Amino acid sequence: MQPLLEESYARHVAVRQERAERALAETGFDRLLIHSGRVHEYFADDQEAPFKPGGHFAHWAPVEGPSHLLEVRPGKRARLLRVTPPDFWYEPPAPAPAFVARSIDVVDLSDAEAAWREAGRTPRTAFVGEGAEEAIAHGIDAASVNPSKLVARLDWDRAYKTPYEEETLFDANRIAADGFRAAKAAFRSGASEMEIHHAFLAACGTTEEALPYHTIVAQDEKSAVLHYQRKRDRGTSKATVLLVDAGAPLRSYGSDITRTWTDGADPVFAALVDGMETLQQRLCASVHPGVPYLDLHVAAHRGVAKLLADVKVFTVSAEEAFDAGLTRPFFPHGLGHFLGIQVHDVGGRLADREGNLEPPPPIYPFLRTTRMVEERMVFTIEPGLYFIPMLLEPYRKGEASAALNWPLIDRLVQSGGIRIEDNVCVTADGHRNLTRPHLPH
Ligand code: GLY
Ligand code: MN
Ligand code: MN
Repeated sequence: MQPLLEESYARHVAVRQERAERALAETGFDRLLIHSGRVHEYFADDQEAPFKPGGHFAHWAPVEGPSHLLEVRPGKRARLLRVTPPDFWYEPPAPAPAFVARSIDVVDLSDAEAAWREAGRTPRTAFVGEGAEEAIAHGIDAASVNPSKLVARLDWDRAYKTPYEEETLFDANRIAADGFRAAKAAFRSGASEMEIHHAFLAACGTTEEALPYHTIVAQDEKSAVLHYQRKRDRGTSKATVLLVDAGAPLRSYGSDITRTWTDGADPVFAALVDGMETLQQRLCASVHPGVPYLDLHVAAHRGVAKLLADVKVFTVSAEEAFDAGLTRPFFPHGLGHFLGIQVHDVGGRLADREGNLEPPPPIYPFLRTTRMVEERMVFTIEPGLYFIPMLLEPYRKGEASAALNWPLIDRLVQSGGIRIEDNVCVTADGHRNLTRPHLPH
């Protein structure tokens, strides 16, 4: 396995080098320094927020720790100036993995000043990362700190994943799938949100700090809170609905999966969960290069309209409900987003590599992806359907009120919401689902 990883990582670094050289040439720079990030202390406290390397740095190397500089120069091997201060309070950051050191020159240094001294500098050096003042103090021109034209190109390119990234995300799905199986078993045996969260972590063999994002473990009505963050401990009765939205970390990347399960739930809600499963798989099947992501999102709304009309939440036809925009309070988020180093990976709303933006249509303000679907992109497909009182209430009195079956809606509020989410990688003529081979349901 290690030689395969080494090879695919070497090709990933070669692609990074080629794309960085092009971006530098297009923007008039001849050298790039990427900072791994800084440690943040809470205000008036000596406690630090958990540290995560910045995305630009992690795109090159899965290396722990703050203050490193990665130096990229045209025609030369990248150099990692890794800061590893002597410390008896904490364990120092782990060394760069061996497979990284085969493709990038790693220089270990005892402090950040030494890294800056070691870093080469030319008048046309660009700096990307946190710490503008630090860069300027070390002789970088202010206009060369996170220059927007360069950053836009790096963000644009980040949408196209290398095989190394695809396999990393595939493996991050495999790890998370173990967590989902444990979560499902815990739910069936009556576990609380808190217990299910811990079951997920244990089965993935990860700590909370290392997660790509906080787990969403929501039972019954809380499954309609899109990013529900609490973990309730035991209630008095067994839950009938569980929504888990969670991912596992791997080499600075992370998966992002959602499943919704029922156990003795309202039969109408259970039918909606089954319908959503079919709809989600149909949407995944329609992913191929050349389709605007927005079209997939609109197809999801049409699908949600059909689901709600079939169970008679709408008193009008699916087409009429869709045309009147009545799916929007039930499905308020976007169909999905780029996935990679960041759970909501960068560049989803870029119109071009220059940095011009393509905002979503005003009726879908939370859609994070407006780009054309292209080969080697990885994104999520996560249609949802929720009974959210705050969003539905304005419709109760509005002119569309008669198109909605309020007694049924008020009943289904107790069940909460549904989301089903897979990660897909776009291939030359379709897509590869990175989640389902590990977690069929
Ligand atoms: N886990 C957050 C999301 O699915 O976008
Ligand atoms: Mn998610
Ligand atoms: Mn997601």
